[in-house]
Amino acid sequence: MKTATEVCPLCAGSGWKTVPGAPERGVTRCDCQVRARAAALFTGAHIPKRYEHCELSNFTSDFPGADPSIALAHIAAARFVQEFDPRDGQGLLVVGGIGTGKTHLAVGIVKELVTKYGTACLFCDYRELLKQIQNSYNDSVQATELQVLRPVFDAEVLVLDELGAVKPSEWVWDTVSLILNTRYNDNRTTIITTNFPDEPAAGIGGGPDLARRSPAFAATRRETLGDRIGERMRSRLHEMCRIVRMEGADFRQKFKSASFR
Ligand SMILES: Nc1ncnc2c1ncn2[C@@H]1O[C@H](COP(=O)(O)OP(=O)(O)OP(=O)(O)O)[C@@H](O)[C@H]1O
Ligand SMILES: [Mg+2]
Ligand SMILES: [Zn+2]
Repeated sequence: MKTATEVCPLCAGSGWKTVPGAPERGVTRCDCQVRARAAALFTGAHIPKRYEHCELSNFTSDFPGADPSIALAHIAAARFVQEFDPRDGQGLLVVGGIGTGKTHLAVGIVKELVTKYGTACLFCDYRELLKQIQNSYNDSVQATELQVLRPVFDAEVLVLDELGAVKPSEWVWDTVSLILNTRYNDNRTTIITTNFPDEPAAGIGGGPDLARRSPAFAATRRETLGDRIGERMRSRLHEMCRIVRMEGADFRQKFKSASFR
């Protein structure tokens, strides 16, 4: 129940206020409603605690030894927000080494989309998501596969963090295809981060069981995004996303002493 102190002084709880500076133009949604919607969207975006501090405004490319790709990625992220059009479904594929700031930028973009446009976003850790889906096959778990996937299909903007981080199998490939194809068909925007280089699957066929078929080859070769999610899905991603590359040192190692965070 609302107490007297919670009633908004601007609209007295009606949710509407007169248009500031032009009362003759009638009423508009009150600030308290705009704030409440943004708060609900933030909660609904499921940004993990560990990344709550990430904003585009506190991302820096101004540190000793910063790779030039970091500044370019920051610009690309800001431009993405500025030019965002939910109807064109154009997303981002952020590719780069460990700790280069991929997730920071993705979360920063989500926050801007929520505050600027009221966009319904969802942050998903790829490993976590696949685990939840697998869990849903367990009889003792209430949620069905579709219940887990529904928000992932429906989010206006989905962040799929650490794509490829699960060891590939036919099931993993099928699940990634289902997610990406559904979003592609619905023209929905997807922002993806990955540690795997955006390169094709192994020439000898790649596939989930490459290591079994050719252990020596698999052991010496660095795995690619094509290996991890399948070549067809990698090429689908190129249709869905603009590519942003981030290179350089692990930010966590570089600034262990804490002044940047
Ligand atoms: N350029 C930057 N400016 C400010 N903070 C940064 C920057 N790059 C990274 N960080 C911070 O460093 C930490 C690691 O960054 P982040 O998690 O975004 O890296 P990542 O590329 O996603 O790493 P991983 O490959 O392990 O997922 C985070 O706390 C993030 O806020
Ligand atoms: Mg990350
Ligand atoms: Zn109000």
